[in-house]
Amino acid sequence: MSEKKETVTLTDNSTGESIELPIIRPTNGIPTIDVRSLYSQLGYFTFDPGFVSTASCRSKITFLDGEQGILQYGGYPIEQLAEQSNYLEVCYLLLHGELPSAEEYAEFKNDITYHTALHEALKRFFSGFRRDAHPMAIMVGVVGALSAFYHKHKNLHDEDYRHKAVHRLIAKMPTIAAWSYRYANGLPFTYPQNHLGYAENFLHMTFSLPTEEYVPDPFFVKALDLIMILHADHEQNASTSTVRLAGSSESNPFASISAGIASLWGPAHGGANEAVIKMLVDIVESDNDVPYYINRAKDKEDRFRLMGFGHRVYKNHDPRATIIRETCHQLLEHVGKGSEYQELFDTAVEIERIALEDDYFVSRNLYPNVDFYSGIILLAMGIPLNMFTVIFAMSRSVGWISHWNEMINDPESKIGRPRQLYEGALPRDFVEIDQRS
Ligand code: SDX
Repeated sequence: MSEKKETVTLTDNSTGESIELPIIRPTNGIPTIDVRSLYSQLGYFTFDPGFVSTASCRSKITFLDGEQGILQYGGYPIEQLAEQSNYLEVCYLLLHGELPSAEEYAEFKNDITYHTALHEALKRFFSGFRRDAHPMAIMVGVVGALSAFYHKHKNLHDEDYRHKAVHRLIAKMPTIAAWSYRYANGLPFTYPQNHLGYAENFLHMTFSLPTEEYVPDPFFVKALDLIMILHADHEQNASTSTVRLAGSSESNPFASISAGIASLWGPAHGGANEAVIKMLVDIVESDNDVPYYINRAKDKEDRFRLMGFGHRVYKNHDPRATIIRETCHQLLEHVGKGSEYQELFDTAVEIERIALEDDYFVSRNLYPNVDFYSGIILLAMGIPLNMFTVIFAMSRSVGWISHWNEMINDPESKIGRPRQLYEGALPRDFVEIDQRS
């Protein structure tokens, strides 16, 4: 006997008409109501600005539980991956859904390493920007331009093409990120060194000088690798959803990722790490008048928000923020208590303490998110403010390309085309300009 399908009954009280909508249960998390037949059966659209209650796709890559503050890549808790894995191994996990064997890891690492160099002609793209261009503007442009170099044919369903495109993107993001910094600071472009690890190579390309030997601080290498693991993927966030929507028209992967970078740049999303530091500096310069800023964040007449606080999904602690806060504390110990960044960290800890005792934040489940402490770590490593979101984009590129790949492979996938709730003018006839009032 076939299993009775689970459904919900939706009744239109204005007509008395009822329909059954199927329930689709996940392997983990919140069940969904399949509304694909809602319009054809009952003549309604759903209305969900910001997709607060909408599952846009099926995915096996990352699981979040906002109520419990849980984040898992391929079922592995972020706390264990942060502690025991490394960024490249996490890239393999996100792309393939399984941790690699030693042999698979060696082959993957080799494949990525030998695609880190950029086509020499790409150098001229950088010199087209003003020296004071924000590195995110450069990254949006140069990543999109990869379409002109690595997208020879349009067949996205060619497995080998996608395999190469995925690996090229992961491999080249650190080089593009480092060159954005080098160009902005009038430094010569550096080349990736194949004997260096992924995070170490980025620090080398960013900070090495032709005039002297540069060996990245191992503590900084480990801290950066951890930051990249924590930022690698996060389910259907704004930038990942942008990549999926752009890619759903079968646009090439490089152009689709460039759209994701543009979305991440916003201060409500990946630009928050830069905004947090600006906020902390303002607070420190105001003699640490934390209560003043907390009250501003609560004032509906004031557009000011506590940057690095709140999250669409986490209504509990963002597990990444907890890990980053501890790493930040350890890094500041490493660079020395007298670090100028210690005051920023102490101020951030004080803000968290006061906010989490304030009903405004507690009642709205507003906790520190991934961006609240991450910037202090980057500053202490010598990475300038305008490179923070570039680091986020470099880390998240594997999440974006994993979701892009999953979407291209999904037989249910179709071009994304939301509808709307139209509230504009009703039909009317054109009026000649000399007849208009
Ligand atoms: C990232 O989606 C992801 O997974 C993103 C991300 C990832 O890894 O990809 O986790 C990365 O983007 C983290 C978020 C970084 N952004 C910030 O830190 C910017 C500050 N935070 C807010 O702008 C806000 O919290 C959002 C954008 C993160 C979430 O906004 P929502 O889900 O749309 O929530 P909301 O704006 O509806 O806020 C609910 C209430 C409102 O008050 P009421 O209308 O109920 O009275 O909480 C208030 C908001 O005013 N509120 C805040 C606040 N965040 C929400 N009030 C003061 N300060 C804040 N930071």
